Amino acid sequence: MCKNNIIIIIIIILFVFLFFSAAVYPGQEQEGVLAPENFNEARLNRLQPPDKVMDVIGIVQGMTVAEIGAGRGRYVVQLAVRVGESGKVYAEDIDSAALRHLEQRCKRWGLKNIETILGDVTDPRLPEGELDLIFVISSYHHFDDPVELMRNARSALKSDGKLAIGEWLPRDEKDSGYNTPEEMEAQMNAAGYKLERIETFLEKNNMYIYIFSIDGSQ
Ligand SMILES: C[S@@+](CC[C@H](N)C(=O)[O-])C[C@H]1O[C@@H](n2cnc3c(N)ncnc32)[C@H](O)[C@@H]1O
Repeated sequence: MCKNNIIIIIIIILFVFLFFSAAVYPGQEQEGVLAPENFNEARLNRLQPPDKVMDVIGIVQGMTVAEIGAGRGRYVVQLAVRVGESGKVYAEDIDSAALRHLEQRCKRWGLKNIETILGDVTDPRLPEGELDLIFVISSYHHFDDPVELMRNARSALKSDGKLAIGEWLPRDEKDSGYNTPEEMEAQMNAAGYKLERIETFLEKNNMYIYIFSIDGSQ
């Protein structure tokens, strides 16, 4: 192989390396405990930037919050750092392997304000009357019976507590995999909540964030 060919191959390898580095890392400015664990977390965090989402739903130091459908804790670690040592995060899921993974993640990073809860399909088993906010992201469409699940979650909220649901929008009229905003509101009304507002800043990424409070008349 002549010298020129070797130089061309080296340039191609460098180009491919730089291309894939750029594809994996744009916007991945978070490090340490907040760094995404894998490509998929990095991709989802780019679509649903945690700091912006937490600002909009009002997460501040000292709050007690729960994520239903927390998975392996992509957002739980973000919530835990934001609420700080004076706050607490309950990470609920029906997948025990995902929760075990999250417990290891907490141990690795010394996060002590997170408690995992293995829930039931229609009962998240959250502590009564303790929560400032219940958070759900990218999980609602996975719930077998979201109305019953969220109805059973309601008593975990303080009287002025909020429910924030980040959920994908239907891609078109034929897409029955996701709810329209009208369906989301009707379902959560049936579960005992009233819609306060819809945050649309993630619309270009096909997601709305629905903020509900407790419907005291039910
Ligand atoms: C796509 S993952 C999202 C995880 C996490 N919220 C995130 O954004 O990285 C959906 C999660 O919902 C959980 N899930 C499905 N049905 C559930 C239910 N009835 N109660 C609680 N979690 C449930 C699944 O086990 C899974 O961890």
